[in-house]
Amino acid sequence: MMMSVPSVPGIRSLQLASTLLTRSPLLDRLAQLPACRSQLRQAPHYAPALNSCTVKRTYIRTSAPAMTYLGTAAPATATPDHLKGPAAVAYDFRSDTVTVPSPDMLAAMVQAPVGDDVFGEDPTIVALEHRVATLLGHEAALFCASGTMSNQLGIRTHLRGGAPHSVLADGRAHVHMWEAGGIAAHCGAKVIAVDVEGQHARGERAQPHLTAHDVELHAVPDDGDAHGAPTRLVCVENTLHGSVMPLADLKAMNEVAHAREIPVHMDGARLWHAAIQTGTELAEWGRLCDSISVCFSKGLGAPVGSALVGPATFIKRARHLRKMYGGGWRQAGVLAAAAMYALDNVFPLQLARTHKLAATLVEHLRRLGVKIENDPVDTNIVYADVSSVGLTANDWAKAAAEDVRDDAAPIHIFGGATGQIRVVMHYQLAEDAVDRLVTALERAIAAKVDA
Ligand SMILES: Cc1ncc(COP(=O)(O)O)c(C=O)c1O
Repeated sequence: MMMSVPSVPGIRSLQLASTLLTRSPLLDRLAQLPACRSQLRQAPHYAPALNSCTVKRTYIRTSAPAMTYLGTAAPATATPDHLKGPAAVAYDFRSDTVTVPSPDMLAAMVQAPVGDDVFGEDPTIVALEHRVATLLGHEAALFCASGTMSNQLGIRTHLRGGAPHSVLADGRAHVHMWEAGGIAAHCGAKVIAVDVEGQHARGERAQPHLTAHDVELHAVPDDGDAHGAPTRLVCVENTLHGSVMPLADLKAMNEVAHAREIPVHMDGARLWHAAIQTGTELAEWGRLCDSISVCFSKGLGAPVGSALVGPATFIKRARHLRKMYGGGWRQAGVLAAAAMYALDNVFPLQLARTHKLAATLVEHLRRLGVKIENDPVDTNIVYADVSSVGLTANDWAKAAAEDVRDDAAPIHIFGGATGQIRVVMHYQLAEDAVDRLVTALERAIAAKVDA
């Protein structure tokens, strides 16, 4: 029976196979197999999405027989590392992007109904976009490959009038510092980068984030002065370096910016953390912004994906630009399914624990006399300066790397020649991860004292 179906060369992943399984005529051929026919199913939980796009209502659950037929079933004895679960990243503090899809998340991906998203026919993406827009109190959303893409598309969509123009942002903002100069390249805009961190450290400002006052002070008016680049957008980041921008401050910022007819874009890659930490609905923040970018691949643990959220006309324009940038994708519902899984399971259930891990680390750092740079640490990211105990980040990283065990993965932290170090918590860290990290720091301090 298997021989009656043509072989499909070049299919190596479950995700790809799942994608292909939704296509005719392969789907029709597979449906002739009793083993596969028994796997055909309705997907009732995707009903809203199915109603809004013209795709088949019947999908195939990617089954073991089908996978075998496609030549992709992994032998039980050769489970690839990425399927072994979180053990490999259980002591990795470099970022919350290091998480691996859990077996349950992978199962959700494999079972996702998919279609061609450029045609608007991927029901899992349609469902995700609808859900994220609703969560954030907006009309529409656009599923994108990365946070950089959803930020830059959002900014470009706001700045479609063309130069001369400027964007006002915190000097540390990801959109300014870490997106490869995208604002200059895509929009030809000047960034007015406010030195929030320096001013806060010098005691020149109370709040450790961008404020309404910064907009009053630095936004360039569109007053006909030929020297200026009028400010057409304010970008905020929440959380920024793990710190929450309080809702009241965002509200004040929104009022001042809107009074100047300047929209507000939020890089909310980790807005999930702010929502959990403060018990504030995502939509409360969302409604105070004209557009928001959120990421599923940071603290939420999905392997890929972000969403740009905003009014329907805005998202329609952003979708057009996404295609121009080559970001239109096809059966990416396999990725949207991971994001859905993360929204259901990681967002509500796991983030508070990551904040607690960060708080525990902070307690130990204080006990040892290490300076905390982003004090108070609101969520899952700790910026420390171990030069306050005579160390460099490299000293700590070296002591951590020396903790070799047969029964546990090595500790990973970023090194560096200065004392500054960022330590990030994520939901796949082991219970004893912080203890191990602190013990390594104590050993590094002791070695310094002995030397
Ligand atoms: C606050 C923030 N925004 C945006 C991004 C960009 O996300 P991506 O790496 O998916 O492009 C990151 C990445 O870590 C981030 O930390």
